[in-house]
Amino acid sequence: MISIVSAIVLAASAAAAPAPAAAPAAAPVAAAATGDVVRGEKRFKVICMTCHTLDPAQKKIGPHLKGVMGRKAGTVEGFSYSPALKTAGWIWDAQRMDPYLEAPSKVIKGSKMLNVLPNPKDRADIIAYLATVK
Ligand code: HEC
Repeated sequence: MISIVSAIVLAASAAAAPAPAAAPAAAPVAAAATGDVVRGEKRFKVICMTCHTLDPAQKKIGPHLKGVMGRKAGTVEGFSYSPALKTAGWIWDAQRMDPYLEAPSKVIKGSKMLNVLPNPKDRADIIAYLATVK
């Protein structure tokens, strides 16, 4: 529950505006919807593919991300997740992904993913790209 609350708080702060409490996730959703898929693919290859593949048959430091948007968190078989991610229970969508990529350890206590992605455009473009990798 704490991680869900902090995810919402992070999503709200990412909006960089005094977002009304009723719609904290509006900005990340809008950003993902307008993300640049082509740029997102390039950024993904540079920033994420050190640790992630898009091929379920390949193993790296992180779980494969094929079809991650719409996938339940922490469920790639055979990958040893941090306990908090394994039991997070949510489905990855833009609202979840944006604060996670901004600061994984703030969303997942004891996160094994330490990488942070402070640039909101990078996050929006990568999220838009990931949504195309089914
Ligand atoms: C230095 C290695 C590393 C880099 C770089 C990295 N990750 Fe990760 N990622 C991990 C690890 C390790 C985990 C497992 C986290 C855990 O168990 O808490 C993970 C988990 C994830 C998950 C959760 C997957 C699931 O099955 O629930 C997503 C989504 C994700 N990463 C996206 C990204 C994206 C997008 C990028 C690029 C912006 C990125 N990662 C960059 C190592 C990395």
